[in-house]
Amino acid sequence: MLTSKLPHVGTTIFTKMSALAAECGAINVSQGFPDFSPPEALLGALTEAAHSAQHQYPPMMGMQSLREAIAAQVLKYRGVLVDEINEITILPGATEGIYCAITASVTTGDEVILLDPCYDSYEPAVLLSGAVPVHVPLHPETFAPQWDLIGNAITSRTRMIVINSPHNPTGSIWSDADMRQLEHLADHHDLLVCSDEVYEFLVFDGQRHHSVLDYPGLRARSFAHFSFGKTFSVTGWKTGYCVAPAALTRELRKIHQFVCFVGVTPIQLALANFMHQHPEYPGQLASDYQARRDRLVNGLRGSRFKLTPSSGTYFQLIDYSDVTDEPGLELAKRWTREQGIATIPLEPFYAQPPAGQRKLRLCFAKNLTTLDDAAERLCAI
Ligand SMILES: Cc1ncc(COP(=O)(O)O)c(C=O)c1O
Repeated sequence: MLTSKLPHVGTTIFTKMSALAAECGAINVSQGFPDFSPPEALLGALTEAAHSAQHQYPPMMGMQSLREAIAAQVLKYRGVLVDEINEITILPGATEGIYCAITASVTTGDEVILLDPCYDSYEPAVLLSGAVPVHVPLHPETFAPQWDLIGNAITSRTRMIVINSPHNPTGSIWSDADMRQLEHLADHHDLLVCSDEVYEFLVFDGQRHHSVLDYPGLRARSFAHFSFGKTFSVTGWKTGYCVAPAALTRELRKIHQFVCFVGVTPIQLALANFMHQHPEYPGQLASDYQARRDRLVNGLRGSRFKLTPSSGTYFQLIDYSDVTDEPGLELAKRWTREQGIATIPLEPFYAQPPAGQRKLRLCFAKNLTTLDDAAERLCAI
C-alpha cells in the first residue's frame, strides 16, 4: 500500500533505551535531557505568558521580542551582529531547523557529507530530499575531523557538509584550526554548511566554542542551528532557532512555513522575557555542567572503564573493552535489565561502526545523586 521512504529507519535508540529504563526501573543516563528543573525565573515567565493575551499564531519567523533577544545574545557572547528580521528564524526545535536547512539546500543527485558518529536526524533529511549521504568517519579515538578523508570524499556533486560541535555523542569540540580548514574547503568547493551548535554554551575547561558565525567565510554559507532546550534545560519546550544569511533564511522559511508554520506563542514569549531579564544565564552554564561532568568522572575512578575526555555537551563516553567484547547495542540493553543502568551505545550513530569499538554514551545532565548512583552501579560491573 505504501512504499516507505525511510525503509531503514525504526524507533530511535533514545526512545528505546528510555522506555526500557522506565520498564526496568533503571537509572537513566541514556537519553540527553536534564532531570532537574529549569531556572525558576523562566518558569515564572511561562506562567506570566500563559496569563497574557497572546495565544494566537506568532509571526512565521518567530516573535520579534525573541528574535531581538537572540540577536542580543549573539552579540554579547560572540561579538557578532545578526539581523533579527532577515537572519533569525525561530523553529519548534533545532531538529526542524536542520530538516528545513537540508531540504531547502539539496535535491536529487546532490551529495551531503555527514561526519560519523552523528546525530540521527541528519541522514533522513538528506534521503527525503533525494540526495545521497556520504559518511566520513571522525577520528576513532579523538573524534576530530579527518581533513584528508573529508577532502577525498568531496566530488562535483557535493553540495553541503553537516557539522556538529560541541559533538553529540562524543563530547569533542572543533578547534579554531578545524574551523579554518572548513572555511577553506567550503570556499574552494562552494559548499553550504549545516552547523549544529545546540550545545554552544556547554564547553569546559576554559575552552571556547567556535561557531560558524565567528568566521566570515563560513557565516556567508552556513545555517547555524541552536536550541533553547539545551541552553535553558527545557528540551520538552521544543524551541530552537536558525541563524543564516538572508538568502539562505528566505529558502529555509519557505519550507518551515509548510512544515510547522510557527512555534508556540507562550513559550516564545517566556523565553524572550527571561532572556531580556537574565542575559548572564548562558554564561554560567559551562561551570555548572563541568561540575556534573567532574562528579561523574570522579565517581568512575576505580571502575574498569576508560574515559574519553569530554570537552563539551553533556555527554561522557566510556570504553568497556576491558570488561566485555559484547556489541554495545546488546550490552546497553542487558545492563539496563541486569545492572539497572541505562546508557546509549555508539553504533546507531554510525553508518558503519568501526570494528572493535566498545563505547557507551552517558548523559551527565542529571542531579548529583543520579550521577553518584550511576557511577556506583558502573563501578560494581
Ligand atoms: C546534536 C543535536 N542536535 C539537535 C538536537 C535536537 O534539538 P531540539 O530538541 O531543539 O530539536 C539534539 C538533541 O538531543 C542534539 O543532540
